[in-house]
Amino acid sequence: MPTAIVTGATGILGREIITHLSKLPDWTSIYALSRSKKDTYPAQVHHASIDLLASPNDLANQLSSQNVSADYLFFTAYLQEGDEKNLERLNGDMLENFLKALSISGAETKLKRVLLVTGAKHYGVHLGPVKSPMEESDPWVEGEGRPPNFYYRQQRILKEMSKGKGWDWVVTYPNDVIGVAKGNFMNLVTAVGLYAAVTKELNAPFIFPGSRTFYTMTDCFTYSRFHARFCAWAISEPRCSNQNFNVVNGDAQSWQTMWPRLAKRFGLTVPADQFEAEDEKVVPLIDSPPLNDYVQTSGLKGKIEKGEVRMRIDLTKWAERDDVKAAWERLAKREGLEKDAFEKATWFFLNFVLGRNYDLVISMNKAWKLGFRDWEDTWDALDGCLSELEEEKVLPKSGKN
Ligand SMILES: NC(=O)c1ccc[n+]([C@@H]2O[C@H](COP(=O)([O-])OP(=O)(O)OC[C@H]3O[C@@H](n4cnc5c(N)ncnc54)[C@H](OP(=O)(O)O)[C@@H]3O)[C@@H](O)[C@H]2O)c1
Repeated sequence: MPTAIVTGATGILGREIITHLSKLPDWTSIYALSRSKKDTYPAQVHHASIDLLASPNDLANQLSSQNVSADYLFFTAYLQEGDEKNLERLNGDMLENFLKALSISGAETKLKRVLLVTGAKHYGVHLGPVKSPMEESDPWVEGEGRPPNFYYRQQRILKEMSKGKGWDWVVTYPNDVIGVAKGNFMNLVTAVGLYAAVTKELNAPFIFPGSRTFYTMTDCFTYSRFHARFCAWAISEPRCSNQNFNVVNGDAQSWQTMWPRLAKRFGLTVPADQFEAEDEKVVPLIDSPPLNDYVQTSGLKGKIEKGEVRMRIDLTKWAERDDVKAAWERLAKREGLEKDAFEKATWFFLNFVLGRNYDLVISMNKAWKLGFRDWEDTWDALDGCLSELEEEKVLPKSGKN
């Protein structure tokens, strides 16, 4: 009977791994680790409060005193603070500290596999145009003019620390996660839902706040529950040993399809000329986008433009408008919603997700070829998560359910 440790228990990806494993009959014991506790768990899930920034010795003591040890580790903890250098330091340290602590506490002797959750920033999706499709064998986006990437530090730590040990590793690369969590760092669905609900309260048109270019381009999303199903499969599949995997739903979606569906769901109207006005803000990305690394073989030398994030509406400014804040307060009071949901919404992240000017096509072939025969419909996932947020009193009832 396998046992698991899941760090990042309250996170958008971690909490679904815990929920999924706890519904499977064979997982007898699951340790859910995070600083805070936000969910109630079934009997086989044991929550332990732990700060991954503590020293390895302190962490080892915390693990021993709470009897935390298991066959498998799912590492999904994430801390967003400061610039890329700081992200590299903090997120690398959290993983390194924890692996050292498992060794000090003796829990490592039982460990069979560590699954590290990272993301498509591995391909530099935050830096500008990327190769289509993104494949796991693609070279890392490093070198002059590129900021540090904390996923690279984490993956190097994982490979280094597994050497000569009784455990191997798996790394996942999800993208633009569709899921439900409260007060986390990157939450696409909550922000989209709140934007729609407040737009309705204002009786305003449902304007796509991102870039016109991206509106008609392709994105590949990851439903948090689909990611959890992948993790449950990959954690013990022998062919996944020491392998990295894209984990996206398997369909290709675009906002030109989903925005009108959202409008219909919330009873809103998309103006036919919604892109007529000037963009409010344009943020250029780095001079050397990831696609540059292929010019010698692709024949695209001199033809690759750097990326940018365009905002028809800058959502960080929109959320600060007096009329917008007043509309949220009215709505929250009338419908009995969680008051701080709007304040905690990740507007900067949504600006970025909707504002890029390049395609994000991610291949699932590697996982599918190894036998993972699963997929998810992105619109259904988005629609379902919005309904969950209505139940959780983060969003008002749309009248759809
Ligand atoms: N969300 C997305 O759209 C998205 C997309 C692609 C990739 N990813 C990647 O997926 C990975 C997981 O991110 P996520 O979005 O699931 O994170 P998240 O929802 O923000 O959750 C982060 C988790 O880490 C825990 N944590 C933070 N600092 C901690 C500390 N010092 N000690 C112990 N636990 C700590 C948090 O719990 P407490 O605060 O209670 O401690 C929380 O459970 C990251 O690498 C992220 O970059 C995310």
